[in-house]
Amino acid sequence: MAVLPITVLGAPILRQVTTEVTEVTDELRALAADMFETMRMASGVGLAAPQVGRSERLCVVEVGDVSAALFNPEIIEREGKIKWEEGCLSIPEVFGWVERSAKVKVRALGLDGQPFELEGSELLAVCLQHEIDHLDGKLFLDHLSFLNRRRALAEWEEEREKYPNLLRVLKPGDRDEPSKSGHAAEEAL
Ligand code: NI
Repeated sequence: MAVLPITVLGAPILRQVTTEVTEVTDELRALAADMFETMRMASGVGLAAPQVGRSERLCVVEVGDVSAALFNPEIIEREGKIKWEEGCLSIPEVFGWVERSAKVKVRALGLDGQPFELEGSELLAVCLQHEIDHLDGKLFLDHLSFLNRRRALAEWEEEREKYPNLLRVLKPGDRDEPSKSGHAAEEAL
């Protein structure tokens, strides 16, 4: 397994729609394992393939005791509304309040290539919607009001110089470093 570099805002792949997976191969299982390792190193709760420079329709989530790799995930049921302050591993130190469905049911293929369903509320629901957005080239910024988006982009202007190649290379120790904004790590998706 390997920790992969994370693409940051400005990398074109974050705006591209991903490609459906036709078969869950060993290579894709290895990619999912690397994505889990990368997500954990970054103290995130979700990570989508474009965030590691890949165009497959794949994301991983880990919220509480739920841990799953999802190939070709789609939301098949939604219920209610929730507002959550989201961050993104690809837009470090930038946060914004987003309205999402409070509860979702997702259908996907698992690591064994078989279909399964996953239901989530609160953070897991937010995470699933955020990651599936990534697979469609969407970012949480797109859900912010005009003023909040402008504020978030201004904050990012200060941050982006830390990532000259639009890549975030994680180092051992990043996991335990407190975020300077004081936000909890579990808000990064
Ligand atoms: Ni994200």
